[in-house]
Amino acid sequence: MVRPRVEVRLDEGAVAVAAVDIVERVVALNPHAVLALPTGRTPIAFYAELVERERTGRIELSQVRSFNLDEWVGIPSTHPATYARFMEEQLFSRLRNRPTACYIPDGTAADLDAECARYEIAIREASGFDLAVLGIGNNGHIGFNEPGTPFDARTHVAEVALVTRQNNAYSFPDGQPPSRAITVGIATILDSRSILLLATGASKAAVLERALAGPVDSQIPASVLQRHPDVVIIADVAASACLSRKL
Ligand code: GLP
Repeated sequence: MVRPRVEVRLDEGAVAVAAVDIVERVVALNPHAVLALPTGRTPIAFYAELVERERTGRIELSQVRSFNLDEWVGIPSTHPATYARFMEEQLFSRLRNRPTACYIPDGTAADLDAECARYEIAIREASGFDLAVLGIGNNGHIGFNEPGTPFDARTHVAEVALVTRQNNAYSFPDGQPPSRAITVGIATILDSRSILLLATGASKAAVLERALAGPVDSQIPASVLQRHPDVVIIADVAASACLSRKL
């Protein structure tokens, strides 16, 4: 088994630089690359770095297609906490040239299962992800694939774990995130040609150690990345504090 490669960087800013270096290489080799993109606090510096390089002409994203990993169910795209809004604010509206297509699941769809199927088909028609950029939840989730999610799951409606809702309460004016979200499934993520997981801050140290050094276990969804042949983890010093030098 090829182990995920772990790169440790000093801080969030250095993680962002190293992560965008990888995106830059992928897009230079294939300007039509298909990217899976995350949300949350972790990728904010990553998007700032990506915007900076795009605006200064170091990277061209206009022919890229992007798929967001997930979206809350039941809140309109105008709501400040939607991932659609997050992506506009952190990335798309700040670029000189937006990607050809930027897909985000529609959490307001009348038929959510049909929306999940539609999203999965769109990913398949794009030939899957060349690079999936992931964060990691404090309980080891990737996207909104919470502990216990089967590894063969495709895009689906997920029940969001209580701890995840608590961790995301900050972005909701009423402090109450929805209990459901649409997420790209674990199997869809594992189909990616390459995977890049970003982890910053001391709160991720224990779960990162369990995901990388523990057994592959659906209770720690990110542990399944051990089975993928091309995974890079970029973590800051704080998030990598529990990792042994052997990794
Ligand atoms: C959220 C998102 C995930 C994200 C994770 C970590 O719930 N659904 O895609 O990776 O939590 O978020 P943060 O970076 O804010 O710690």
